[in-house]
Amino acid sequence: MTNSALKIIEVDTYQGLSLAAAKIFIEAVRKKPNLVLGLATGSSPLGMYQEMIADHKQNNTSYEHVRTFNLDEYVGLAADHSQSYAYFMYENLFKHLDILLENTYIPNGLSESPDQEGALYEEKIIATGGIDLQILGIGANGHIAFNEPGSPFTSRTRLMELTEDTREANARFFNSIDEVPTHALTSGMATIFDAREIVMIVSGKSKAEAMKQLLTGEISEDFPASILHNHPNATVIVDRDALNAE
Ligand code: GLP
Repeated sequence: MTNSALKIIEVDTYQGLSLAAAKIFIEAVRKKPNLVLGLATGSSPLGMYQEMIADHKQNNTSYEHVRTFNLDEYVGLAADHSQSYAYFMYENLFKHLDILLENTYIPNGLSESPDQEGALYEEKIIATGGIDLQILGIGANGHIAFNEPGSPFTSRTRLMELTEDTREANARFFNSIDEVPTHALTSGMATIFDAREIVMIVSGKSKAEAMKQLLTGEISEDFPASILHNHPNATVIVDRDALNAE
């Protein structure tokens, strides 16, 4: 991957990864108080969000003028459903900051027209001037947001059918796999790629194969995260467990 501008930061632990990612976000918000952030859900960013909350409490970093866009939302779950991503964001980040909820955007999983909702989401992003800084996790199959393998690099916010693997991986948050939604609204590959800066966090043994593929594989729509190699300002922060594929 000789042309790749992708930066890799290796850290020992998940805590180190969380601190490193939080530092980038906090410094960016301090520099530009009306920053537009791209946010993610899942286990990976939880530690980073805790660091941002701790910093907000200790150092008064303000999010009053920050706008946020989340990557995705399950179809069929209302914002107050305990497994919706809207609920996740409120519980794990927003309610602990001085951010204005009307400045936090998450696709509406209950929209009757996913096509319309997708187009509207793209318009809202453009209206804010575009995403400045995007945090990303990675699925074991290389998915980013809910862009499953095969997602065109040109795709925009849209309805996506989840793979069985992804539903199984996320079943740990539900009572049973039957409760895991079959579809999601997700930012597209191009939506993510348009962010001015992207930080991906990769932690734990379950991500080691994906990390290896990212470092050694081809740039291909079959492995969505590989798009980062084409981005001019993307960084992967990875911990030791995720670096050591067996
Ligand atoms: C979900 C989310 C992704 C996330 C991925 C990994 O499918 N849609 O945005 O990156 O899972 O999640 P985790 O960080 O819990 O491993």
